[in-house]
Amino acid sequence: MNNVALDRREKMFTISDFQNLIEQQLFHNRNKSLFYELTNGRFVLNSSKETSALFKQKSKDIANFIETAHLNDTTQKLAKYISDKTIRLFVEVNQYLNFSQKDYLQLQKVYEALLQQVYEICNQKEVSEEEIDQLFRSHYKNLQSFLLDSNGKEIFKKYRESPDVLEIKCAEYTSEFQMRLLGIYLSKVKQPVLDIGCGQQANLFHFLRKNDIVVYGLDRNVQNLNNKIYQVDWLEYTYVPDTWGTVISHMAFSNHFMHHHLRPDGDYEKYATKYMEILKSLKIGGSFIYAPGL
Ligand SMILES: C[S@@+](CC[C@H](N)C(=O)[O-])C[C@H]1O[C@@H](n2cnc3c(N)ncnc32)[C@H](O)[C@@H]1O
Repeated sequence: MNNVALDRREKMFTISDFQNLIEQQLFHNRNKSLFYELTNGRFVLNSSKETSALFKQKSKDIANFIETAHLNDTTQKLAKYISDKTIRLFVEVNQYLNFSQKDYLQLQKVYEALLQQVYEICNQKEVSEEEIDQLFRSHYKNLQSFLLDSNGKEIFKKYRESPDVLEIKCAEYTSEFQMRLLGIYLSKVKQPVLDIGCGQQANLFHFLRKNDIVVYGLDRNVQNLNNKIYQVDWLEYTYVPDTWGTVISHMAFSNHFMHHHLRPDGDYEKYATKYMEILKSLKIGGSFIYAPGL
């Protein structure tokens, strides 16, 4: 490769530059509350120094990158990359936040529009600090609207009170602990078993499988997918009648059902409907075993 070509490659903005930019920008705003507004109406979230410098120094390359994605029909993929990451962060911060397939598509649209705005700003002779600031502020307003539309007002009330984000994390438990707490005995388990909200580690699933129990798991946030663990929202999964010998859900479905029951704008009806669907999915003599109790 000659020097001119090398020079050109160094100047280009690549997919890994794009991924790094997203990574560092999300890291920069970690632990900051999107709903806390400062007295001057500004957000505690903002663009990092690195992002602003990049927008100014590599504006043409960024504009070319977005234009090429547009020509190749890959803008949606880029937007999906950011929106999936963002939703993962939202549910990591607060396990009671929930997003339907429709919400995922909605956030993807928000990021497609943001990419178009970045293109317009970067495709000028010069990019000013003011424009970058304005871009991020309007983006945070859009994110607020997205969260309020998808999850209602109530859950975000607390997030208006402090600049630091309030974390409501979910833990995972050992299989021994779950078996004991739920009073499950291997010799008496009716099969097949479905573990709803089995967790990223799917501890109980793996334990039951090792003990030759036919078991399936589902969770919206699972890593090691195999053909018996489904990555799906428990409200969007269809529980087929007369299918399961045992349905288990430890610190998962019933915990969220209770949360929605107690929350003034909770979606408890959806949970009640799914609860009935789960009961109908049991075979005769089957059990739905869960904690906390309802
Ligand atoms: C507290 S953890 C419990 C995990 C596991 N049952 C255990 O006891 O170790 C709750 C799990 O529910 C999952 N979850 C929360 N909301 C969900 C939803 N709407 N659909 C599917 N899984 C969900 C989370 O991803 C998390 O893995």
